[in-house]
Amino acid sequence: MTVVTLTVNDELISANAGQTVLEAVRDSGGNIPTMCHLDGLSNYGGCRLCLIELGGSPKLSPACFTQVQEGMVVFTHTDRLIKYRKMVIELLLSERNHICAVCVMNGNCELQAMAAELGVDNVRYDYLSPKLAMDASHELFTLDHNRCILCRRCMRACDEIEGSHVWDISGRGIDSMVITGLNMPWGESDVCTKCGKCVQVCPTGALSKKGSSVAEMKKDPVCLRWVLDGRQKGIWDYEKRATRLAQV
Ligand code: SF4
Ligand code: SF4
Ligand code: FES
Repeated sequence: MTVVTLTVNDELISANAGQTVLEAVRDSGGNIPTMCHLDGLSNYGGCRLCLIELGGSPKLSPACFTQVQEGMVVFTHTDRLIKYRKMVIELLLSERNHICAVCVMNGNCELQAMAAELGVDNVRYDYLSPKLAMDASHELFTLDHNRCILCRRCMRACDEIEGSHVWDISGRGIDSMVITGLNMPWGESDVCTKCGKCVQVCPTGALSKKGSSVAEMKKDPVCLRWVLDGRQKGIWDYEKRATRLAQV
């Protein structure tokens, strides 16, 4: 494996060729804020929280989509980046109805935590306050469009890990909405296995377990890693498991 050396915030780090800047920085003990990225899922590059500055370029680049290169110079926390990240969070908060005080994820929400981490204590933009429906048709889970930030983690988890393809996006731009099936109530989707992976990876209160009350919902997006590691080691393969058990 080819190893490359790059400079991150004036410090030299090594990385494997082919890694993204995000992976390299995290492997070296640093951090870059993310929202749509989740380990184990493909990258989508939609939230723009992971923007970085590259030496010699006036453009900002998403760390989750930028591959490391020999001699690369990266800045992860300049004043310019911090300003943009705050703006991204403010725009997300103003786009839908994020009323934390009455949200099932209050206190456990990744969007709320990121706002606090970045010092977003007010929103400078007009709240759009759209009138959005909830879908409580599923036997186990609830979808609240008011809290959705369109990160697509639910789509990717369902598609790439569970192997169902329940989720999609309808509409464009500000009219984009997550949909289930061909825009049918979630409870009527006959390909949903009720596994709950979409709920566990959703960073906000948009997807929750039915019956959760204010601040009661906690999620465990790390469960995906557990599922993937299990698959890679073959412990979910019935035949391999049976063979291994026979050898014990
Ligand atoms: S519960 Fe599982 S199968 Fe159903 S939509 Fe969520 S991830 Fe897909
Ligand atoms: S429902 Fe949750 S996981 Fe899916 S796009 Fe909306 S915020 Fe992201
Ligand atoms: S984490 Fe990179 S764009 Fe969302």
